[in-house]
Amino acid sequence: MPTPQDGVDGSAARIPLLPPAPPRRAAVRLHPLPLLVAAAFAASYHLFFLTPAPSYYQSLYLSLGSNDTAAAHLHALTIRPHLAGTGANALAAAHVVSALSSHSFPTRLTGYSVLLSYPARRSLSLSAPDRDTVHFALKQETYAGDPYEAVSAEVVPTFLAYAASGSVAAEAVYANYGRAEDFAYLAARGVNVTGKVAVARYGKVFRGDIVRNAREAGASAAVLYTDAKDYAVGKAFPDGPWMPPTGVQVGSTFKGVGDPMTPMWASSEGCERLSIEEAMASDDMPGIPALPVSGKDGAAIIQLIGGDVAPEDWQGGDGAPVYRLGPGPAVLNLTYIGNETMANIQNVISVIEGKEEPERYVILGNHRDAWTFGGVDPNSGTAALLELAQRLSELQKKGWRPRRTIILCNWDAEEYGLTGSTEWVEENRAMLTSRTVAYLNVDSAVYGRGFYASATPQLDELLKEASKQVQNPDNETQSLYDLWMASDSSPLVGRLGGGGSDYSAFVQHIGIPSVDLSIGSDYAVYHSLYDDFIWMEKFGDPLFQRHVAAASMWGLVALRLSDEEILPFNYSNYAAELERIVTVAPGYQDGALRINERVLGMPVSLSPLHKSIKEFRRAVLEVDSELKALQTWKIWAPWRNSPLKVRDINDRLMMTERAFTEREGLSGRPWYKHLIYGPSLHNDYGAEVYPGVDDAIQTAMRTNTSKSWQSVQHEIHRVSRVINQAALVLSGGLT
Ligand SMILES: *[C@@H]1O[C@H](CO)[C@@H](O)[C@H](O)[C@H]1NC(C)=O
Ligand SMILES: *[C@@H]1O[C@H](CO)[C@@H](O)[C@H](O)[C@H]1NC(C)=O
Ligand SMILES: *[C@@H]1O[C@H](CO)[C@@H](O)[C@H](O)[C@H]1NC(C)=O
Ligand SMILES: *[C@@H]1O[C@H](CO)[C@@H](O)[C@H](O)[C@H]1NC(C)=O
Ligand SMILES: *[C@@H]1O[C@H](CO)[C@@H](O)[C@H](O)[C@H]1NC(C)=O
Repeated sequence: MPTPQDGVDGSAARIPLLPPAPPRRAAVRLHPLPLLVAAAFAASYHLFFLTPAPSYYQSLYLSLGSNDTAAAHLHALTIRPHLAGTGANALAAAHVVSALSSHSFPTRLTGYSVLLSYPARRSLSLSAPDRDTVHFALKQETYAGDPYEAVSAEVVPTFLAYAASGSVAAEAVYANYGRAEDFAYLAARGVNVTGKVAVARYGKVFRGDIVRNAREAGASAAVLYTDAKDYAVGKAFPDGPWMPPTGVQVGSTFKGVGDPMTPMWASSEGCERLSIEEAMASDDMPGIPALPVSGKDGAAIIQLIGGDVAPEDWQGGDGAPVYRLGPGPAVLNLTYIGNETMANIQNVISVIEGKEEPERYVILGNHRDAWTFGGVDPNSGTAALLELAQRLSELQKKGWRPRRTIILCNWDAEEYGLTGSTEWVEENRAMLTSRTVAYLNVDSAVYGRGFYASATPQLDELLKEASKQVQNPDNETQSLYDLWMASDSSPLVGRLGGGGSDYSAFVQHIGIPSVDLSIGSDYAVYHSLYDDFIWMEKFGDPLFQRHVAAASMWGLVALRLSDEEILPFNYSNYAAELERIVTVAPGYQDGALRINERVLGMPVSLSPLHKSIKEFRRAVLEVDSELKALQTWKIWAPWRNSPLKVRDINDRLMMTERAFTEREGLSGRPWYKHLIYGPSLHNDYGAEVYPGVDDAIQTAMRTNTSKSWQSVQHEIHRVSRVINQAALVLSGGLT
């Protein structure tokens, strides 16, 4: 164990510095008058009660990081492939339970029976005139000396979960990244995709959207591949971090969220369920057979596609042949038979009960299930969670008890459709909605250098402050904040509208302020056989200090939210964000189309939105001055800060995010209740601001009917209404 004055693992660090030891609880009765005077001048409510200030435990927490602990957990968790629903993943759950129980945190398994998908039969062959038919092996190769050679036989055969079962033999068409605009381009060039096999490369949108776009364009099947241009620009694993030629990205193609058999409710025991046939007939399913293939197989297919030359930005990297659009003469014969079956999944839930406000929750979550070994995705996050838990148990031994309850969650079946977290949120919706302060998600904690964070905007400032207290794992003279500033993330704090990980149900379904963190850069072996401990040790985090930094950041944010008397929320960023999206601000770029530009000159008024944002801004100013008063009183007149007053303001800060949700949800997507943040209709990974307005604008721009512009106006009114509700909650007033 390092001494407290040292940084993580004994290296002398600029940050964190440990404050002097806390005063011990007074054993003798002190005269109240000097105490009051002392309290007034010591500027600390906590000294008044002679308990350490939250900042004492925060610094102690930062000093306790252990890279060896993180490495040991990652190693143990990634011994075998552990796909959701398998015995190996139940063993991984047992590891998590035993680690958390060993700290005497009450820990339990919460199980659900849900519809998962496994491959039963696959084949793919390629033929062309005057060529021998090629039968692809559809197998990722191990390398000489691979310590996981033996267990690699347990890795699930390459497939796309929930793809339809069937056989298709048809000409191939090249569809670039498989985006809606790529298929529109093919149509414009007169390339008829109907009945063909669409061949698209990974890299720009969610794979479920690629297959769906192919289906909508009329394709009978889809083949997705990793192009060397995107995934193999340097030395391949094990000599470098990039994807080997036979590496395949597997994954889910389900566009919905949670168990497909219980689309709006929890998969509790004995609950109402759709039949498997009904679930598979959902529009959120890809609906056509599809297979993922390696870069090597993809290149073999592309090479035999003829027809017109594809445009410049559809071409491959250096040394690649000229890519053409097709169709044919390459013919692909694809067979995919899936096994959609009910399987048991298990979330691990561990509770550290709060002392003063046990009925307020700060929830930390990471998933455990992996397509293969989970070296990065997701068990770097699980290792960070368990390392964080160990530090909290050390704090407990030093007398710490959180003010609010901290809940550590380890989700299952995230890879299939955020399933474990979604079922739990659906099952506990009413309790979570009334009690949860924040949800802090870490999926893959580490995959290289560079720091990324996304959040709902009231947490932006907290993230910035916390990152200034954590050391950059790659440069001890810098903070994580410096690393963050140097990363290529624009805007600095991302948003949580996308469907990328387990924050989805918390933010988009029930409106909980949330955060998502990771430390990384290029990560080409994503969802392949090669995502193992060796990749992490060689390339992702050789000293496991990045795991420590991820756990430091995650835990510090959790401690601030759980221990500080007043919740460290700042809603002025929220107001700024709401405003920015409807304001023409030249030069501003964040990938989100600004509403104003797109409705300019259209029969649509933005004034309801401007008006509600103005109300919201007023509420922010009001609550800010109340908070300032509380801070002042805390020093000069602590008796004026009654616990009920503090509770009232905290509740308003907590519940404001809830007000952005609306019972009916997004039009046509009723599970998505949040009207400010939701996924883009055409890319589940894309985070949209005002997704309902965006959907309506897209339709209106396509159809340009007065009815469609009325829908845009309707969506603008809906968003304005929730912003008005949020303003009322924040200011705590009735009309
Ligand atoms: C595309 O091909 C299908 C089937 O051969 C045909 O029914 C359809 O009319 C074609 N579409 C266009 C735009 O030519
Ligand atoms: C496609 O492949 C399957 C399985 O290898 C084979 O049975 C079938 O005859 C092939 N179909 C065509 C049209 O080549
Ligand atoms: C489908 O998976 C279940 C559970 O693993 C297994 O019991 C069953 O035999 C499989 N069915 C087929 C057709 O592969
Ligand atoms: C570490 O950060 C300092 C201060 O920003 C910088 O001068 C130095 O070059 C960095 N060192 C490395 C190894 O990147
Ligand atoms: C932990 O960090 C120390 C100091 O940087 C290093 O010597 C050690 O090898 C690291 N442990 C692991 C498992 O990487």
